[in-house]
Amino acid sequence: MKIRHLSLRDFRNFESIELNFNSNINIFIGDNAQGKTNLLEAIYLLSTGRSHRVSDEKLMIRKDSEMAVCKAVVDTDVQLQLKVVLHDKGKTLFYQNQPLKKSSEFIGKMNAVLFSPSDMDLFETSPKDRRKLFDVELGKIKPFYMDLLTQYVKVLKDRNVYLKGSEIDDDYLEILTSKLISLQVEIIRYKTGFVDRLNQIVTSYYQRLSLSKSSIKIAYQGPVEWSDHLQYDLIDKYRRNLDRDRVFKLTHVGIHRDDYIFSMDNQFVTSVASQGQKRLIIVALKCALIEVIEEMSGDKPILLLDDVFSELDKQKRIALFDVLHLNTQTMITTTDLEDVQLWLKDQITVFEVKGGKVFERSSIL
Ligand SMILES: Nc1ncnc2c1ncn2[C@@H]1O[C@H](COP(=O)(O)OP(=O)(O)OP(=O)(O)O)[C@@H](O)[C@H]1O
Ligand SMILES: [Mg+2]
Repeated sequence: MKIRHLSLRDFRNFESIELNFNSNINIFIGDNAQGKTNLLEAIYLLSTGRSHRVSDEKLMIRKDSEMAVCKAVVDTDVQLQLKVVLHDKGKTLFYQNQPLKKSSEFIGKMNAVLFSPSDMDLFETSPKDRRKLFDVELGKIKPFYMDLLTQYVKVLKDRNVYLKGSEIDDDYLEILTSKLISLQVEIIRYKTGFVDRLNQIVTSYYQRLSLSKSSIKIAYQGPVEWSDHLQYDLIDKYRRNLDRDRVFKLTHVGIHRDDYIFSMDNQFVTSVASQGQKRLIIVALKCALIEVIEEMSGDKPILLLDDVFSELDKQKRIALFDVLHLNTQTMITTTDLEDVQLWLKDQITVFEVKGGKVFERSSIL
């Protein structure tokens, strides 16, 4: 999957721009606050229907304008036309020039995987954010997974509301619990399968990026250990927690409490990894995600790397270019072109971003 053309009107600090992309590496260079991240945000918006930075979508409309328009032409087996219009009443999504009623019909038509500097919080942040990352990525591959999660959240809410009620009928509580368990068995199967596959490849990306022999492991911590008798283990755990649930009027067991723990050479990443190593672990994870999403969906996503070079030394920057030299279309923002690999020059287009204007450079240096 390759994005050929991007057109923005009154989006963030861009009044009107039209860009044609290289199908390999595109570098956006510019000083701070010139619009580099805004460009990646526009591409992310066209991929997911949402911003990765703000929930108030009006903030993306250029100051003093009434609406913003983002358009992309994407090559897959067929050519896709995607459009997002942001206006004072919200947003309208278009696919092949037709307005869509549901955003689920738009999400993932153009698949993109983003590295954002805020991903660096992944290891220290709450389990909720880690769950979100894996849920979003898995949802891109298996829209059915998102449906299961939505059903789970609904039944969980029903169960918690019921536990708070004045009278509790054991049989009805049992029905809600069984529903919750059967949904989880499927959800946990997806999650463990996904993490297992990522674990098979993430270390090799990390080793190539870090020029080291360290191994990376992601451990999925669900409500019970994965086994062939998952359902029985869940039933047992719910039973053992029933009194607690009733006293606190809350569901204590379930995937709404699960987590993903990262380790490097069998030690917690949070305890041992440096800033640069953490950055490379996340980049390795994103590269692994690209590969797994491609395997499962048949289309290679676009890789968006925002400010990925900060904190990386020269050797690691060069290693990153080596890894990117796959046929993944990549968009990179940076404040300088140091260490850009000249041997890749045929595969790189450099765009200068300055005060909301974008110029394509005729040569990369
Ligand atoms: N709705 C808006 N209308 C006009 N300008 C906006 C809007 N939203 C953000 N901006 C401007 O966009 C600029 C920030 O752009 P962006 O975050 O893309 O910078 P950047 O080039 O990525 O910088 P850095 O290197 O510091 O990350 C700021 O100057 C900000 O004022
Ligand atoms: Mg930025």
